[in-house]
Amino acid sequence: MTWSTDQQQNLLRIEGMTAVEIMSILDDARDLREHARGDELNGCVVANLFFENSTRTRCSFETATIRLGGHPINLTSSGSSVSKGETLIDTALQFDAMGVDVIVVRSGLNGGAELVAEACDAATINAGDGRHEHPTQALLDIFVMQDHLGDLSEKRVLIVGDITNSRVARSHIHGLRALGAHVTLVGPPGLVDDSFTSILSGDEVAVSHDFDASLAESDAIIMLRIQRERGSSSLIPSDYRSGYGMTAQRAARLGPRQLILHPGPVNRGVELDSVVLDEHPGSVVLEQVAAGVLVRAAVLKRAVAGGSGALDGNSRAGS
Ligand code: CP
Repeated sequence: MTWSTDQQQNLLRIEGMTAVEIMSILDDARDLREHARGDELNGCVVANLFFENSTRTRCSFETATIRLGGHPINLTSSGSSVSKGETLIDTALQFDAMGVDVIVVRSGLNGGAELVAEACDAATINAGDGRHEHPTQALLDIFVMQDHLGDLSEKRVLIVGDITNSRVARSHIHGLRALGAHVTLVGPPGLVDDSFTSILSGDEVAVSHDFDASLAESDAIIMLRIQRERGSSSLIPSDYRSGYGMTAQRAARLGPRQLILHPGPVNRGVELDSVVLDEHPGSVVLEQVAAGVLVRAAVLKRAVAGGSGALDGNSRAGS
């Protein structure tokens, strides 16, 4: 396949990816569902460099690496020389010099993964960079939505909550639009404003501040976490839950085919009531976690496809 961007082995962003490219990864992930273990990574070393906290993303990359016969090594800010002031790029360069095959990076810096890709020979995967993108999260969410809804073309997806701070929302807008879905961003004025969509991509994406009015027409509802670590606290209205939470009362109005997603971690009783998260038939939050391993396995396979630079020096795009 000829990739439309510099992302032949790197995965830095969904922006610019075509529907064919997205489906190629997701089809591969579906194939992996049939054989959860393999040797596709053939001893490759995958360095997970996490400069921000993570449970799902880091551990699912680790699980996927082990399942496919690779070796994960994990670095977090605490306990490493990052705590002594070593920079993102200097840290990544140490792992590149060690000869790792893949660098998976989470950083608070918008565009941080791209900087790593430019500096390093290893294939680079963006595991979330600031407010920019979280491509594997969007891919795994799309995977789950397709499992339930089939082709997403013309399907209606609501993304609800702290849009302004959300890298997940940005990746979703690009991915869902590429697949022909309609996206509506829903949240209080401080957390989603009308200028957001044009700043983002120029695509036609609707904005609403009225969750209840948008709810009935939707096929899938992606609830986002309030990101207090990115300064959201002062912008959250005191009645956030009643206006923008998936309360038990609101969830009771959903039809049998409407899906409720959340990338996690969930603030129970804020974005989702516990009874909705744990018991509502439309809640697919743990399916998202399971899909995360498959999708990340597919992305890792793609990252090492063609082997290391020693085997195919031209295949390391973006380096
Ligand atoms: N959804 C997500 O990125 O979760 P973690 O921060 O736990 O990786």
